[in-house]
Amino acid sequence: MTTSHAPRAHWSSRWAFILVTIGSAVGLGNIWKFPYMTGVNGGSAFVLVYLACIVGIGVPLLMAETLLGRRGQSSPVGSMRLLADEAGASRLWQVIGYIGIVGAFLILSFYSVVAGWVLEYTVRAVEGFEALPKEAFGEAFGALLADPKRMILWHTAFMGMCGLVVLGGVTRGIERANKIMMPALFAILVFLLGYGAVAADLPAAFRFLFHFEPEAINRSVLFAAMGHAFFTLSLGMGAIITYGSYLERNVSIPRTCLYIAGADTLVAILSGLSIFAIVFAQGLEPAAGPGLILQTLPLAFSQMPGGHFIGVLFFVLVVFAAWSSAISLLEPGVTLLVERFDMSRPAAVLLLCAGVWLLGIAVALSFNDWSGFTVFGLGLFDLLDTLTSKIMMPLAGLLIALFAAWVMKRSHVADEIGLSGRAFAMWYNVVRFVSPVAIVVIFLNVIGVLG
Ligand code: PHE
Ligand code: NA
Repeated sequence: MTTSHAPRAHWSSRWAFILVTIGSAVGLGNIWKFPYMTGVNGGSAFVLVYLACIVGIGVPLLMAETLLGRRGQSSPVGSMRLLADEAGASRLWQVIGYIGIVGAFLILSFYSVVAGWVLEYTVRAVEGFEALPKEAFGEAFGALLADPKRMILWHTAFMGMCGLVVLGGVTRGIERANKIMMPALFAILVFLLGYGAVAADLPAAFRFLFHFEPEAINRSVLFAAMGHAFFTLSLGMGAIITYGSYLERNVSIPRTCLYIAGADTLVAILSGLSIFAIVFAQGLEPAAGPGLILQTLPLAFSQMPGGHFIGVLFFVLVVFAAWSSAISLLEPGVTLLVERFDMSRPAAVLLLCAGVWLLGIAVALSFNDWSGFTVFGLGLFDLLDTLTSKIMMPLAGLLIALFAAWVMKRSHVADEIGLSGRAFAMWYNVVRFVSPVAIVVIFLNVIGVLG
């Protein structure tokens, strides 16, 4: 065990931190998961709860988690141990770090399989989607799901891409990759939007996402939306603690966190708008599930003028988004193995990638050869997704809120977050009361205790 204060790598600037953390946040969650979950959960009711969860739980906890990492200056587990000691509290609080690292491992195993689908579609986009009948695009996606070899091949390629970046370390790997990918991602997004606004049914998409419909909110919508708020902001999985631990002390946490959450929300809404605009313009089904963007968009690309080029751009965008998020799922475990178990970075990267790769193979098989294997009626893919976003992330978030606002010394918290007066009191009370109560109420509601 080391509690030494070896010189720790740091981002080269505040903007580097903002960029890499946006890289972590903006991912498949925004472009793949948000649109399909909105479609499955009935549209605007889901969006409303999701936005409420971002404001009431997500952003305050993003600040809290960043604060824990920066004060801890260590891996998620190491940071929590140090902070627990500092507060004179039990070292059991390290469990926050362990939940995060195990959760990140589980998420990456299915994230990488989905990113593999996206790689396959990037190649298909380069070849050009042919103008086929509507059903053909659903069948083409179905054929991919039925082909474990192909999925495993792409999953392997994606894990290799992630390992390569993380191998490069904090500034030369992660920061450099994001400095290339993030500006490209935003440029492509703006371009696509301009195009989408002209070519598709934006008003229908707008109605679907923002039609005010509070009576459509039910238990499962609440639960799904809260889980997604955690997922999309990368909360509770060690990613934010780890990235925060590479942050210099002179940076304002609240402001940077607002930029990050703002960018993430914006990308989700804009992706949702452009994707549903196409879905409705083509008279397609919004509730298609996880295959939504892979079945509907290629169809649109095959018919639009300039669709070949736009299709390639779109899938490159999704690859960058997925890649920059996946490396943030890998780094927390790597820092733990390096700091706690004295492994070299390459060995740690190799070990973790190999583990995730194996579990990912099981995930790929769960769509075909192993589809008979279910737990609580869920296949492995859905099981991992549910377990992480709906249970582990909110649980870690709850513990982070309790630790930051009830266990740590108030003066330490105030000093670290750099707020004072009313602004501090507001944030502090939200993390102290509002976020934890909201998480618990949604949990109890789902278990059925609140009727
Ligand atoms: N926030 C990422 C996304 O929306 C996923 C993620 C979750 C990344 C947890 C890191 C940690 O795609
Ligand atoms: Na996100």
